[in-house]
Amino acid sequence: MDRPARVTAASRPDPASSRAPTPASDPLGAFGAPIPRRRMLLLLGASVLATGSGLGALLEACGPVAPVTVTLQINPATMPPGVPVEVPFSMTNSSGASVQASMWLLKNAGGSLTAYDPRCTHAQCVYKWVTAENKFKCNCHGGEFALDGSVLAGPPPRPLNRLPVHDSAGVVTVDVPGDFVTPHESLGA
Ligand code: FES
Repeated sequence: MDRPARVTAASRPDPASSRAPTPASDPLGAFGAPIPRRRMLLLLGASVLATGSGLGALLEACGPVAPVTVTLQINPATMPPGVPVEVPFSMTNSSGASVQASMWLLKNAGGSLTAYDPRCTHAQCVYKWVTAENKFKCNCHGGEFALDGSVLAGPPPRPLNRLPVHDSAGVVTVDVPGDFVTPHESLGA
């Protein structure tokens, strides 16, 4: 006849280890203890905040792209006031791409200069100055801009972007956004 197994100190279950984890000994519920709903929400909130601040720090570290200063091959003394002149330029953008485009340079009545970003503010198409109509026109979707860059017609949501321009004894330099890419010739619209 089989005798019942003897229970020794070594085989006896440890009462401490068989006890269910308490909130103090298992704050994150790592042993499978249910986490109260309120505690779960707090943990999720803290996680989102931590992720958000990390993302913010990452974006801050990336920072804005530095502009690229280009020198325009034009003598402002030869420019007629009030008539935009298309001036070609080339640069290497922040992606290492070689870019060639033309910007619009305007000599104002007092002799100061205004440089317009050559990309339409609607969908980045090129636009042209039409002397006969005294306005800039974009063929992609019919956008129109006045001499001061304000929107006259069409879908552009805002005026033409102006680029910082410097005239140093006739040498004209313009700060072009470092991430500048060549505007679209046409979107086929
Ligand atoms: S891109 Fe110029 S109007 Fe659409």
